[in-house]
Amino acid sequence: MVRKPTPDDKFSFGLWTVGWPANDQFGSATRPALDPREYATKLAELGAWAVTFHDDDVVPFGTDDATRAKILTDFKKATDEAGIVIEMVTTNLFSHPVFKDGGFTSNDRGVRRFALRKVLRNVDLAAELGAETFVMWGGREGSEYDGVKDTNAALDRYAEAVDTVAAYIKEKGYGLRIALEPKPNEPRGDILLPTIGHALGFIAKLENGDIVGLNPEVGHEQMAGLNFTTGIGQALWSGKLFHIDLNGQRSIKYDQDLVFGHGDLLSAFFTVDLIENGFPGGGPRYEGARHFDYKPSRTEGLEGVWESAEANMQTYLLLAEKAKAYRADPEVQAAFEAAGVLELSQPTLGEGESVADLLADRSAFEDFDPDAAGEREYHFVRLNQLAINHLIG
Ligand code: GCO
Ligand code: MN
Ligand code: MN
Repeated sequence: MVRKPTPDDKFSFGLWTVGWPANDQFGSATRPALDPREYATKLAELGAWAVTFHDDDVVPFGTDDATRAKILTDFKKATDEAGIVIEMVTTNLFSHPVFKDGGFTSNDRGVRRFALRKVLRNVDLAAELGAETFVMWGGREGSEYDGVKDTNAALDRYAEAVDTVAAYIKEKGYGLRIALEPKPNEPRGDILLPTIGHALGFIAKLENGDIVGLNPEVGHEQMAGLNFTTGIGQALWSGKLFHIDLNGQRSIKYDQDLVFGHGDLLSAFFTVDLIENGFPGGGPRYEGARHFDYKPSRTEGLEGVWESAEANMQTYLLLAEKAKAYRADPEVQAAFEAAGVLELSQPTLGEGESVADLLADRSAFEDFDPDAAGEREYHFVRLNQLAINHLIG
C-alpha cells in the first residue's frame, strides 16, 4: 500500500486529462463531460495540489466577454474552495478549424495575428489566476508535406511569436515563465520543435529566451525513440526544465498518453530517481510541479477516470520510495564507485591546467597504457540489476 498523496507532493493534472470524454478518431465519447469545477474539486479530494487548463477547457471557444468573465469567476471560486492551486495555463491553438495549419506558424498571416491575440489574452488570465508557468504546445505547428512550409520562415515566425509573448510578460511584470512542449508528430505529420534538443536549440536563438524553457512529455520523446530521462537531464543541465508532463508510452507509435509508469516502467523509475534525488554527482534540480498529462483509456467510465488519476500519483510515490531506497543502499553506492559514476564529476583537466600542460603531461598519453585501461570492468549491468532489484525485488 502506498500513502495518500498530499499537496506537498506537488501533483498536478490537466483538466483536459480527467476531463477527456474519450472521443477519438474512430468513435464518439464514452463518458459524460463534467463541469471543470467538478474535476478540480475531485482532484483536490484525491490529494492533488494543482490543476492546469487550456483556455478552451474552461471557457468554450467563441464565448462572449460577459459570459467568459462569469465562468472564470465561478471556476476560480471553486478551485479556491477546494484548496487547489492553478499552477499552469496553456492555450488551445489546435482544435478550431482556423488553426488547421497552425497558430504561430500558419501560412496565413491573419491566423497568426489571431493566434497571438488569443495567447496574449490567455497570458493575462494566467497571471491573474496566479499561475507560474505558461505552456506552449505547438501541436498544429507543422505540416504533412515538406514542400508546403518554408522552415526558415516558420521558425522565424515561431521565434517572433514566442519573443513577443515573452516581452509582454516582462513588460507587464508577470511572474510567468514560458515552457515549450516538444512533440514529433500528431496531429500534424511532422511538428516543428519535435524534440527536447530541437527546442533547446530554438530557445538559444530567442531574444527573451531567459524566461523561455521546456515542458517535456515522457511519451513525446519516446514516440521519437528517445530516452526521456536523458532528455530532461539535458534540459536541467541547460537550466531549462521549467515544467514536466508525466505519462506512459509503449514504444514508437501514436501518442498513447497512458498513466505514468504504464509504459516503460524502468525508464519511469529513473525519471523519478532524477527528479527526486537529482544527478548522482549533484547539479541542478527540478523543483516544479509533478504534472500528469495522460488520458484515462476509452474503456473507462467515471470510476475509471478517478482510478487512473490515483494510479498516476500512486505510481509516482511508489517509484519515489524505491528510488530513495536505491540511492541509500550501500551496495548501490559501492556499485556507483566501481562503475565510475561519481568519477565523471571530476573535471578532465586539473584546476588551472592549460592545454600546454596537458600536452606536456606524458602520463596522459605517451606513458598511458590504453590496453590496461581498456581492460577496466565497469559493472554497469550489476548496477542496473541493483536498480531492478529495488524496483521489483
Ligand atoms: C499531447 C499534448 C497536449 C499538451 C497540452 C498542453 O497529448 O499531445 O501533451 O496534451 O500537453 O495540449 O498544451
Ligand atoms: Mn501526449
Ligand atoms: Mn503534454
